[in-house]
Amino acid sequence: MNNIIINGNKPLSGKVAVHGSKNAVLPILASTVLNGGENTVLNCPHLRDVDSSLEILKYLGCSVSYGKNMVKVNSKTITRDSIPENLMREMRSSIIFLGAVAARCKEVEISAPGGCELGPRPIDLHLKALRELGMEIEEHGGYIKCKAKDLHPANIHLSFPSVGATENIMLASCNIEGKTVITNAAKEPEIVDLANYLNKMGANIKGAGTERIEIIGTREFKDVEHEVMPDRIVAATYLCAAMATRSEIEVTNVITEHIRAVLSVLKDSGAKLKENETSIEISAPKVIKPIDYIRTQPYPGFPTDAQSLVMAYLTLADGTSVIVENIFANRYKNVEELLKMGADITIDGRVAVIKGVKKLNAAKVRATDLRGGASLVIAALAAEGSSEISGISHIERGYDGLCEALKGLGADIKIG
Ligand code: UD1
Repeated sequence: MNNIIINGNKPLSGKVAVHGSKNAVLPILASTVLNGGENTVLNCPHLRDVDSSLEILKYLGCSVSYGKNMVKVNSKTITRDSIPENLMREMRSSIIFLGAVAARCKEVEISAPGGCELGPRPIDLHLKALRELGMEIEEHGGYIKCKAKDLHPANIHLSFPSVGATENIMLASCNIEGKTVITNAAKEPEIVDLANYLNKMGANIKGAGTERIEIIGTREFKDVEHEVMPDRIVAATYLCAAMATRSEIEVTNVITEHIRAVLSVLKDSGAKLKENETSIEISAPKVIKPIDYIRTQPYPGFPTDAQSLVMAYLTLADGTSVIVENIFANRYKNVEELLKMGADITIDGRVAVIKGVKKLNAAKVRATDLRGGASLVIAALAAEGSSEISGISHIERGYDGLCEALKGLGADIKIG
């Protein structure tokens, strides 16, 4: 198994471009089953989770072809309406196929996605919402069987603005005649990208990006070409790497509005930021200021996915910072590894107290989840000596060419 080897404590410089968004492209790929036609997905990152989605699409009977940063999916012929356990377990967000395949095939059977590295991953909100649209759902023996013959529009209120549940409802309802309304919907930018995709396909979705989304069903879908939005968490990763290494870099292909909450924290830590139309220049301070409180929240609040990235540079702040993780129970698995690098962090339930240290030291550490893994890369870039990060398959789930990109910024990094 390959590891990432980083000889740290070197400043970064130059420009780095952000690739297409993982969390936008995954529901878009699931939605390609709907139109029974050609789907061209541009700015598609090459990620393990994308490969897993394409494997599912191929299994269902779609034809899939690749180009550079581009994927074409033709869903004219779908030969299956079930997804086996080995394909489902590869990617925890595969639950999104439930709504899409049900809408297209009127029946679907998938294995229930199990727990994941972030703790238990309930899907109760997904199932409740789909039942409100008239789906008959049975859960037995680890499988979810769903009949979607007589669906009707519904007013669905989500008790929590779940990203995945909002997406599943959009996919399941965009061919149901009449108006479906989601209230307390997730407002993440990836929801807007999915709505844009579906609207290009012929759907009629209004209000994406607000807490009230209206979906007026249509049966007339067409071919689509769409460019996936930039990945806001990858952008945050480079910015946090610049902070940890006290560097000056420019991050391009970024929509700054999408990372407003992260930028605000960086500024409070003393970063100088210059926002251009599609790029952002960061100049890190010599002395990193600690942050009193960061609370992860649904968008536009501080994103849970950026929590471990910010934590990595706050280990080097001049004082104590506090993070409260409100979205996922088990999102501090990277802390044990950061401790091996000399960080001073204590965890009490959902609260992390990070006392800044003068420097981090190199260590052999293990990535156990995607963003936690990225936090170790950030810490290793700042640490003195040669660090070795194992478990890089987690990192490959969400970063396309991370090592090459960091090498381009002058990092001493390799896979070995
Ligand atoms: C998506 C993102 C993930 C991000 C998260 C929150 C993708 C592929 N993944 O995950 O990177 O960290 O949004 O921004 O887009 N919940 C329930 N019942 C449900 C569904 C969710 O209790 O039926 C809970 C979850 O356990 C979690 C919270 O709601 O505590 C947020 O989950 P959700 O917004 O659904 O996240 P995902 O769509 O899984």
